[in-house]
Formats: sequence, C-alpha cells, structure tokens
Amino acid sequence: MTERIFNFSAGPAVLPVPVLEQAREEMLSLPGVGMSVMEISHRSKTFQAIIDRAESGLRELLGIPEGYRVLFLQGGASLQFSMIPINFLAPVASADYVLTGSWGKKALKEAKKHGATNVAADMADSHYTRVPSADELNLDPGAAYVHITSNETIEGVEWKHDPDVGGVPLVCDASSNICSRPVDVSKYALIYAGAQKNLGPSGVTVVIIREDLLERIPDGLHTMLDYRTHVQNNSLYNTPNTWGIYILDLVCQWVKSQGGLEGMHRLNQEKARKLYDAIDATDFYRGHAAPEARSLMNVTFRLPSEELEKKFATEATAAGLDGLKGHRSVGGIRASIYNAFPAEGVEALVQFMKEFERTNG
Ligand SMILES: Cc1ncc(COP(=O)(O)O)c(C=O)c1O
Repeated sequence: MTERIFNFSAGPAVLPVPVLEQAREEMLSLPGVGMSVMEISHRSKTFQAIIDRAESGLRELLGIPEGYRVLFLQGGASLQFSMIPINFLAPVASADYVLTGSWGKKALKEAKKHGATNVAADMADSHYTRVPSADELNLDPGAAYVHITSNETIEGVEWKHDPDVGGVPLVCDASSNICSRPVDVSKYALIYAGAQKNLGPSGVTVVIIREDLLERIPDGLHTMLDYRTHVQNNSLYNTPNTWGIYILDLVCQWVKSQGGLEGMHRLNQEKARKLYDAIDATDFYRGHAAPEARSLMNVTFRLPSEELEKKFATEATAAGLDGLKGHRSVGGIRASIYNAFPAEGVEALVQFMKEFERTNG
C-alpha cells in the first residue's frame, strides 16, 4: 500500500506530509554531508546546527522567554513523572497534583514514591469530563510545585486557561497539546511533552524549564536524572535521539509555515468544531467531555452500545479511517486530530458517522 490513510491514532501520530517527504529526500544523504542524520556524530557541526535550529524553532513558536532552558531528553513524558519529584520535591515539602484524567494519575503515582503529595483536585466524580474551577482547587500555598496535565489524551479533556496557582511553580504535562495553540510560557515553571503527538516521532521529550528552578535541585542525584546535567551539556551529555530532534526541527518549520501557533490554533478549532457539531447533531453519539473542556486534539465519544462502538471502529478502519478505538481504560471512540491531521480526514469521519448512524441507528 502506498496511499496514505487517515490516521486518528493518539500517538505516535500523524506527521505532516511535507516533513516526511523532506526526511525521505534526505534519508541517504543530508545535503552537503553525504550521510544520513542517523549516521553522524551528535557532536558534529552538522548535528549542532540541527539541534540549535530545533531549539530556536520551538522558542520562536512558543515565544519562550529569556530565563528558560529547552531540553531534548529521552525516557518519554513518563520519565518526567519521576524526574520532577526527584529534582523538586524536597523531603520537607509536598507537591500539589490536579487530576483531570489518567495521565495526571500516573504522574501522581510516581511522585508518591518520592515524597509527600496533596491532591489539589480530583475530577473522578465527574468521570474525568472537566477541569476544576478555581474554587474547586485545594491548593497548598507552601507546595513545592503544582502539577497539571493541560490535555488528558485518554479522556479528551483540555484546560482552556492557565490555572492561577499564586507564586507556586506550575508544572505542566503538555504532551498531547503542545504547539496546538499559543501559550504564555511565563506562567509556567516547567512544561514537558513527549514529542510523538505534535512535535515528531517518539523518543524525544521536550522540557522547558525556568532557570531559577535549577537552584532547588539537591546534590547527589544520579547524573542522568539531574536536570542540571542536561542544561550544562545542552542536551548532549549522552547520545540524544538525533533522528527525533531532526524531525522535530522540520515539524517546527512546518508549523511556522501554517501561520505559527495562531494559525495552527485556528485550523485546530475548525477541525474540532466540525467533529463536535457532528456528535451534537444526534442522540446516537454522545460526547464524553463537558463542552467547556472539550479537547481540540482528542475527541472522545460514545455510541449506544459497546457492540456498536466495536463495529464502528472496525468498519471505519476498513474505510481508511484508522486508530479510532478509544483507550482500553475508558472505551468508546477517540478521534485524535493533532496539528498534522488533515481537515479532509475530519470531513471523511463526519460523513462516515452519518452513514454509520443511518445504517445502525
Ligand atoms: C498527556 C500524556 N502524558 C504522558 C504520556 C506518556 O508519554 P510517553 O509514552 O512519552 O512516556 C502520554 C502518552 O500518550 C500522554 O498523552
């Protein structure tokens, strides 16, 4: 098969076609280099230029202010669940966790292994359909940090505003909505994201960290688990994922060509609106997230029965719409429509939904 299908996978996810084409073009030989990016030293001038461009691309897109460092690490967002408490949760302190879905719970689980935690809000009662309002947040003013998940990939629940946490450092897992909309980085002490949804392939984790946080890190941590190691060595302490960083650089250039984050946000809003409109147009489909917390990236919905959901996902795959089965923990259907997901794919899904309801409703 050489035709591309519509890939609704939650991650690793669809990449921009021009990025894949350029990578194919340069697979055997980077221009003027005669080798693939995967075959050159991470300490070569060529790779230094690539990692520098990847960083400046991200800085430009996200408007990252002075006083923040950008790191390209490995171990996925999952390793950040541990590195954050290991570096910042001092023995005498406690950290606040806001739980709006499955990934926040996983982050909390790791923090608990390291120190004291406070669940500042747990949206379990709402079945993780919304984010807490300001007066539902039970924040500890002395907390080491507050951790949120800006977009819960499994439930399809997204924060639409930056929570006000006073002077406590705000830490955000932005794995599934980074670069999907403009963000005021200055409101955050640390933002992290696995690359495999909006930024590139799996195997690279972006960490944006405010420099003053580095002073809080205790001495004696294992070298690879200490953020200062990666800051001091510009993400080149050990061999980084050179291929992943190369693709991430190309993806940033592509996002810029789409009008940057403002342009991306407009396109994302338009795609999501079409899909949510199709869900709301009938009782056959039922959206999972509360309307005000609906994710622009992961659109989650139910059908009248699990049998129909299974049939829907199977028939959709046969029709060239792949990856729609919801996460095993919540069931239902999940359409992930990240930055690189084409508007025609959303159109195709809306048509498929209408036809499926007509024959099964
Ligand atoms: C919001 C969120 N956080 C963390 C993770 C875990 O990322 P990784 O597999 O890179 O460790 C994911 C993966 O899907 C995610 O969506």
